[in-house]
Amino acid sequence: MSKINKVAVIGTGVIGAGWIIRCLAHNKTVYAFDKDIKLKKNLILEIKRAWPFAKKLFNKKKLNLKNFHFFTSIEETLKDADFIQECATENYALKTKLMSIIGKHAKKNAIISSSSSGLLPTRIYSKCKNPERAMIGHPFNPVYMCPGVEIVPGKKTSKKYLNQANKFYKSISMNPIMVKKELPGYLADRLQEALWREGLHIINEGYATTEDLDRAIEDGPGLRWSLMGTFLTFHLAGGKAGMKHMLEQFGPALKLPWTKLKAPKLSKKLASRLISGTSKQAKGKSVAMISNIRDQYLVELQKLRKKYENKIRN
Ligand SMILES: NC(=O)c1ccc[n+]([C@@H]2O[C@H](COP(=O)([O-])OP(=O)(O)OC[C@H]3O[C@@H](n4cnc5c(N)ncnc54)[C@H](O)[C@@H]3O)[C@@H](O)[C@H]2O)c1
Repeated sequence: MSKINKVAVIGTGVIGAGWIIRCLAHNKTVYAFDKDIKLKKNLILEIKRAWPFAKKLFNKKKLNLKNFHFFTSIEETLKDADFIQECATENYALKTKLMSIIGKHAKKNAIISSSSSGLLPTRIYSKCKNPERAMIGHPFNPVYMCPGVEIVPGKKTSKKYLNQANKFYKSISMNPIMVKKELPGYLADRLQEALWREGLHIINEGYATTEDLDRAIEDGPGLRWSLMGTFLTFHLAGGKAGMKHMLEQFGPALKLPWTKLKAPKLSKKLASRLISGTSKQAKGKSVAMISNIRDQYLVELQKLRKKYENKIRN
């Protein structure tokens, strides 16, 4: 297949908007659709809010909205697209139905990829007529800033289309991870979910606030995680002998009751601690204001990271 330049984005909430901005920053033509057509106005506002950051990260000159088309019919949106990125609400029934519609109207050979955060591709494509070219392409928010994307095959996905998707994501400056076979939650969300569940227990039982737990990550593991993940970090924690000594010293802790992993009940009391805790942390700033600060930080952090990660990886 020649280079993929025409991309359809189905569902234009937080993640759909992020894909649109990343694709526009890489000169792709974007066809967008959302079942709620009123969202078009907000979407344009979000593209304009995020553009200065995307522009800086990808060294672009100006935003070309001529490449952006918002349609009110899904058939029209899919008609010319070579790559379809589905970003609708996370729900098995909804996505399975949507994928059967997408499969019906997708162009011959178009790749279908879902942004799902953890649903099994074999299940969401069970009624799609072309599962061989369908997969998960799970990104991270904000999609225009984070280069990560997990490509997860369903049981019927063909290698040929997985490779084409890999190439496409690389063409929009992403670093795809090819997950070997489908699993619920894929990779990063399984790890995030474990941390989230433990955090909910700690808050539920009154040991700390949302702010305390965020600081515990921000000032410690989080600082290291932007350069290296848990495994390489723990290799260094073992001193000269690396992972071998780390396992000797901390291996026994695996038997201590440090984690519960099973999620606590999301009671009204717990939800209210989470909502009031994070709202206090926001100090009156809107989500858009904090997003601007985060984006500016991520632009500078990634430039710094590039400099240092090359020293480890090469
Ligand atoms: N928010 C995140 O951090 C995040 C990160 C990675 C992946 N995801 C995944 O991305 C997907 C979208 O999540 P989001 O956070 O953008 O949700 P969201 O609620 O912000 O947006 C979902 C959009 O889908 C639209 N929609 C629903 N049904 C539709 C249909 N049948 N056809 C067209 N549009 C439809 C809704 O109107 C809404 O605008 C989910 O699968 C989610 O798991 C989310």
